[in-house]
Amino acid sequence: MNNNWSPLSWRTKTALQQPEYKDKDALNKTISELKLLPPLVFEKEIEDLKFKLRLAEKGKMFIIQGGDCVERFADCNEKTILNKMKILLQMSMIITYTAKIPVIKIGRIAGEYSKPRSNEFETVNGIDLPSYRGDSINSYRHDPSKREAQPDRIIRGYFHAAATCNYIRSITRGGFADLRTPSNWNIEFARETVTSGEYRTLIANVINSIEFLECFDGVNNEIINCTDFYISHEGLLLPYEEAMTRKSLRQNEFYNLGAHMLWIGERTRDINNAHVEYFRGINNPVGIKISSEITPDELIRLLNILNPQNNSGKICLITRMGCKNVKKYLPDLIHRVKKENKNVVWICDPMHGNTTLTKQGIKTRDFKDILQELTDTFLVHKTNDSFMSGVHFELTGERVTECIGGAINIAEENLEEHYETYCDPRLNYDQSMEISFLLAKFLKNA
Ligand code: PEP
Ligand code: CO
Repeated sequence: MNNNWSPLSWRTKTALQQPEYKDKDALNKTISELKLLPPLVFEKEIEDLKFKLRLAEKGKMFIIQGGDCVERFADCNEKTILNKMKILLQMSMIITYTAKIPVIKIGRIAGEYSKPRSNEFETVNGIDLPSYRGDSINSYRHDPSKREAQPDRIIRGYFHAAATCNYIRSITRGGFADLRTPSNWNIEFARETVTSGEYRTLIANVINSIEFLECFDGVNNEIINCTDFYISHEGLLLPYEEAMTRKSLRQNEFYNLGAHMLWIGERTRDINNAHVEYFRGINNPVGIKISSEITPDELIRLLNILNPQNNSGKICLITRMGCKNVKKYLPDLIHRVKKENKNVVWICDPMHGNTTLTKQGIKTRDFKDILQELTDTFLVHKTNDSFMSGVHFELTGERVTECIGGAINIAEENLEEHYETYCDPRLNYDQSMEISFLLAKFLKNA
């Protein structure tokens, strides 16, 4: 086990982006209660994910990680969860079928209830409010008293994550993902686009292939019926993460059993601070969000702390540079990681470096910038003898209007029609399908 580490050793360091709880006794009581509640995931599932990430590291599997920027408690309902699962499964199918590569499916789901914020305060309709930090911390309501951090929301976060995770298990294990039930794979595009025709043809081909194999008794029912799906969130709210950290059944080691994978955000990855201290002790795979601000030296220091044994399948570097920065900053990071023989899985998050504000002050992202960052990242890896082994998207299965562009051509003027996110703008259903086809084509030609 790591020297001097415990699930609470983060408390000795500076913890950024934490809410200030006025009632400390209530917070401690909540954490003690949470420690007695059952885990959401099982250690073996986490080890299975690490095994697959080792394959992704070598370019033999591809990762799709996606979901809301922030999940709301109100999103813990049948329709929203099912639609999110449907889009993630459909995207994976497009990639697997077109590029002939198996996909590791990881949701930003069942725990993405707390957010880092750039500003302590925000002004809504002329009123200054403490920033909304996610439903497990405070309320989105435009009322200053509701913006206070409340410890009981942490427990509510746990139960919403548990209900979401439970339904995901039913969807993935109970036959929804059965490739022979085309109705589950059907879609209604907002309007007919190139992608809708392409998708229908793809599904018809998949079903044809399965029927063909069935004639030879050659389809493994387990594979066709079920799918592996992993849950992940940013490990931001440290009292929650501490409470979900449990001793391994086998050895004197620790896992965070509130998610299969967790990531450290761009704002909290300082090596001297509490988040890095917490993350260095858990056995889960760990994502690290990195922008163009990280230097190669800093990255290597971070890797030495978080993965001192240089284990394969352990670290995912999630680059989110912005489309204008990829060619300038990514090559040096790749060279240095290769020079030091560090084992990492590279994932591209083309969302967080491409956020802009419209003239009306609405946060958006342009589909073409997202695509540009993906394309440049893919090519920079390819020309430097490395792999972009996955993608990380903020998306939803609903028909929201939050990102502009794409074949359905959402314009700035349309943004207010269905702008629902409480935090960052997400790709909607049609934009997510479109990006999957484009991505599948580069992977096919890789
Ligand atoms: C996020 O993933 O929603 C986020 C805040 O990302 P980053 O830490 O990369 O800014
Ligand atoms: Co976000």
